[in-house]
Amino acid sequence: MNVLRFADLCASGAARNQRVFIRADLNVPQDDSGAITEDTRIRASVPCIRMALDAGAAVMVTSHLGRPTEGEFKPEDSLAPVAARLAELLGRPVPLLANWVDGVSVAPGQVVLLENCRVNNGEKKNAPELAKKLAALCDIYVNDAFGTAHRAEGTTYGIAQYAPIACAGPLLAAEIDAITRALANPKRPLVAIVAGSKVSTKLSILEALSRNVDQLIVGGGIANTFMLAAGLKIGKSLAEADLVGEARKVIDAMAARGAEVPIPTDVVTAKAFAADAPATIKAAADVADDDLILDIGPQTAQRLATQLKAAGTIVWNGPVGVFEFAAFEQGTRVIAQAIAESSAFSIAGGGDTLAAIAKYGIEKDVGYISTGGGAFLEVLEGKTLPAFEILAKRAAA
Ligand code: 3PG
Repeated sequence: MNVLRFADLCASGAARNQRVFIRADLNVPQDDSGAITEDTRIRASVPCIRMALDAGAAVMVTSHLGRPTEGEFKPEDSLAPVAARLAELLGRPVPLLANWVDGVSVAPGQVVLLENCRVNNGEKKNAPELAKKLAALCDIYVNDAFGTAHRAEGTTYGIAQYAPIACAGPLLAAEIDAITRALANPKRPLVAIVAGSKVSTKLSILEALSRNVDQLIVGGGIANTFMLAAGLKIGKSLAEADLVGEARKVIDAMAARGAEVPIPTDVVTAKAFAADAPATIKAAADVADDDLILDIGPQTAQRLATQLKAAGTIVWNGPVGVFEFAAFEQGTRVIAQAIAESSAFSIAGGGDTLAAIAKYGIEKDVGYISTGGGAFLEVLEGKTLPAFEILAKRAAA
């Protein structure tokens, strides 16, 4: 996708003394006391801010936090904890400014954080009056918020329509590059892992991937529905009987072009969904009426690991079993290790997937870890995200 890149502007000196407005995604999880429990997105936003400061720009950064009500700022909506963490990471003060839509005072070489942009009236619906005011704050608009790239809001879309210059920050650019490498121009075989509790939430992703990938590995409740479609019994496991026909279509469409949905040949079962429930490994054909399938079996895990090690490209979204429980984590562990050992270019995204990557300590062995949740899933569906669409339109104008 052809978009203007902030790195190129900085390299050419075009950002010097300019007012640069960076839309980051600093929407991080917090505990009840407001303390940040996981700061990946803040750390991932630092290179863009440093790039702007090093280029001599006057730097404004904003983000949403949660889903506040517009026009009704509450203390828990505040980016104050984020400002504090950002200041630590940048090693300099990061003043937090409220009520900033009508004007921001910031000098070249300084950075300010603008309070939760979703509290501004008109942000969610991308009201043109707000978008024009946002655009008037800056000379260069930088979208570096991949996690919010699937939202057409004031700070992700509207401002990009009206700002003098609109470009992609290094994080957004890296995400575009990784996704393009994995899905638009992949080294084959291309293997996707799509796991999760329900086919219904990922049906459009499965359909989109089934037209492109060489192997589509399904896991969790999704795999159970595919096992039903393959004529296997799944006992009382989580599945969606009404979507068996859709699963069958995916299997058939892939088979017709010589591609495959590998159906588990063995599974790990229990009689109850509990961490201490005794685990039994059995052939997929032997699942009893009162069994719950909570993981793939060792034979299946090894077969999938072999496919992953032979892959040219791997896209990973979702653990294949209940990896939070020790007795049912082995499938996900084997898959994670196979991805880590594979020479394939791998891209992973989604909250549970990131938790599995952290649990097995393979962060450095995954080609690219996306900061997107919903945005990553929409990319897998084959959608063009609004943030990319407007930046591409501006680059072409
Ligand atoms: C996310 O956490 O996925 C992003 O920050 C987007 O948040 P949203 O779903 O509230 O738009």
